[in-house]
Amino acid sequence: MADSFKIDFQPHGAVETGDLVVFVGEDLKPSDAVARQIGPEAVDLIAKAAAAETFKGKAKSSMSIVVPAGLSVDRLIVIGLGGEKDRAGLDFVQLGGLVAGKANGKVATVALDLPGVEITPDAVADIALGAQLRRYSFDRYKTKKDDNGPDAGRLVLSVSDPAAVKKIYKAREGLQQGVVLARDLVNEPPNVLGPEEFAARAQALIKLGVEVEILDDKAMRKLGMQALLGVAQGSVRGGRVAIMRWNGGKPGDSPIAFIGKGVVFDSGGISIKPGAGMEDMKGDMAGAACVVGLMHALASRKAKANVVGAIGLVENMPDGNAQRPGDIVTTMSGQTIEIINTDAEGRLVLADVLWYVQDRFKPKFMIDLATLTGAILVALAQEYAGLFSNDDELAERLTAAGKATGERVWRMPLGPEFDKMIESKFADMKNSAGRFGGSSTAAALLQRFVNDVPWAHLDIAGTAMGSPATEINNGWSSGWGVRLLDRLVRDHYEA
Ligand code: BES
Ligand code: MN
Ligand code: ZN
Repeated sequence: MADSFKIDFQPHGAVETGDLVVFVGEDLKPSDAVARQIGPEAVDLIAKAAAAETFKGKAKSSMSIVVPAGLSVDRLIVIGLGGEKDRAGLDFVQLGGLVAGKANGKVATVALDLPGVEITPDAVADIALGAQLRRYSFDRYKTKKDDNGPDAGRLVLSVSDPAAVKKIYKAREGLQQGVVLARDLVNEPPNVLGPEEFAARAQALIKLGVEVEILDDKAMRKLGMQALLGVAQGSVRGGRVAIMRWNGGKPGDSPIAFIGKGVVFDSGGISIKPGAGMEDMKGDMAGAACVVGLMHALASRKAKANVVGAIGLVENMPDGNAQRPGDIVTTMSGQTIEIINTDAEGRLVLADVLWYVQDRFKPKFMIDLATLTGAILVALAQEYAGLFSNDDELAERLTAAGKATGERVWRMPLGPEFDKMIESKFADMKNSAGRFGGSSTAAALLQRFVNDVPWAHLDIAGTAMGSPATEINNGWSSGWGVRLLDRLVRDHYEA
């Protein structure tokens, strides 16, 4: 809810009050234009203060000079850009986050004229995006608001061509809102955000021109989605599937599809989870949140692509009507699954939604996102999402988009060995094969619901929730995947 934090753009010029942010290389010198603006004494002051603070202008380092002599501003914040190599590979979104983290006074002016780095309007828009994401905070349920919280204050980016920047920034605002929407959904408590309420949030995208359909329990029963319904049956709150369609591409062109796991709360069901940390399982709908945030971003910028977003929304609870270990469910595809562990519920939800999307929309490709396994945290920590795919080209594109956005993926194995591990004595397959290769056996189950369409599965249990604070996030919910997939669509699927 970063509504109060504000970013403005203005032409370069003298700065009177607040914080002033300038950038230096390892020679501790700002750009010529900035040096002229602040004057030779201030340039000298930077060098002296740097010596006193052992600030060496390294990338991602910074120093603050409070009430700098000879300047009218309250603080001069000096940000290091490092050597030539650092500057060549500069990530402007990250830089924006760093700036917004340091320049946290009431108002800060950022002199976006960098020594040895070209600042295009595109780069400025990225800096603004990073700053916005850094200043996000979720304080809806705090009755005492913090006036100096992350979402306070104003940032003025001084640039050479504000009009050009504003235009690009406007186009990128939808992406920022999409990430914020995903974060908000993940942060919301599970009593507030049940399947029905989540579906209503997806429905709200109609104001952007997205077509939305909601399937309730009755509609899903008719379709034969017994795997999804089996998970939902232990909750007093019914399940939902929300289908969002953005038709910005050529009419009749087959769409690309994104599918999200939306378990609004995962208690584990009858195979109940231990109590410690169970509150985190409100975030087990991060895949669905990402899909909604992505659809928001794509529709906001009127992406020239036909896109389907589909999310399976359920609550996994233990009650007298809950699914049991030993139960066998028949999926929409007709294949049967023996329930070994009711806590392996995400794959059951996805089995039906993947099948439904493939069957109805015949997509060019489909990508699902799911906080699917704890095992992916064991393998990849919180650094990479696990990528499983039946298509090398799609996998490579995702990997490239990951490098470009910093939302990185690491390819993990699929294959007959893992498929064999989910064979069941009593049904076509079982929903859990134990600890070994836990992420791959989960992916193997999903693959049984994918025919010959290019498909990728992203296991985001480590990256989308419980996230550490970073340069562009204050932590817990990251909105992971919205920037990655927006980039994938932009780079490859918009005509
Ligand atoms: N939602 C969990 C996975 C998870 C774990 C997400 C940690 C985020 C953080 C999933 O439904 C689950 O419970 N998976 C089990 C599968 C097991 C029972 C086969 C797991 O990973 O332990
Ligand atoms: Mn579970
Ligand atoms: Zn789960």
